Amino acid sequence: MKHLVAPSVLAADFSNLSKAMDMVNGSEADWLHVDIMDGHFVPNLTFGMMIVKVLKKLCGKPLDVHLMIEKPEQYIEAYREAGADVITVHYEACPHIHRTLQQIKATGAKAGVALNPGTPVSAVKNLIEDADLFCLMSVNPGFGGQKFIYETLAKVRELHSQIIERNSKAIIEIDGGVGLQNAETLLQAGARVLVAGSAVFKAEDPLDVISRLKSIGKDTLIA
Ligand code: DX5
Ligand code: ZN
Repeated sequence: MKHLVAPSVLAADFSNLSKAMDMVNGSEADWLHVDIMDGHFVPNLTFGMMIVKVLKKLCGKPLDVHLMIEKPEQYIEAYREAGADVITVHYEACPHIHRTLQQIKATGAKAGVALNPGTPVSAVKNLIEDADLFCLMSVNPGFGGQKFIYETLAKVRELHSQIIERNSKAIIEIDGGVGLQNAETLLQAGARVLVAGSAVFKAEDPLDVISRLKSIGKDTLIA
């Protein structure tokens, strides 16, 4: 399966969102990554379903909604109605993660679990067959433009081998500090979705960065 590229709208120019979305629509991007922060689970605050609705209108790509919020189970249906195609909740925010994944799937969205850098892969070993996506955070969630935490690479390899071993269809997404400098290594380790905020939106030529991220490892990656 070819890898996916998901520009993170967090790094876009919100004073001209339609221009940013026109760029994404005309690019080779597969998804639009949408960061929701509540100022409690993470020390930053972004926006809620109202803006997700706007993004759904402006963006033709599937919305990959990353909920960095407490009690995400209270908002799953609302984000789905707003237009989320993938809904990812944090393992650390969900005392009943298995139930929350079922709740996401019941809305028809793909269900993801995100792991903070300090959370080991072993925490989700009983969810390998229940999640559609595992988002490994390679920065501490809350802000764009941070430095990639190198240890994440070992987590990708560990999770990838568990997914293969269990014959699961789950895919691994990497979020934080991803760009042309580390994308190939991450894909070789088993990542399938590359989230890139600053690397895309702060670039001089965002279309070119997306296209280069998409063409990495052509023909050399494992199926
Ligand atoms: C961080 C967010 C990321 C962020 C990535 O809390 O979850 O999705 O937008 O931004 P970059 O690619 O700039 O690290
Ligand atoms: Zn994110």
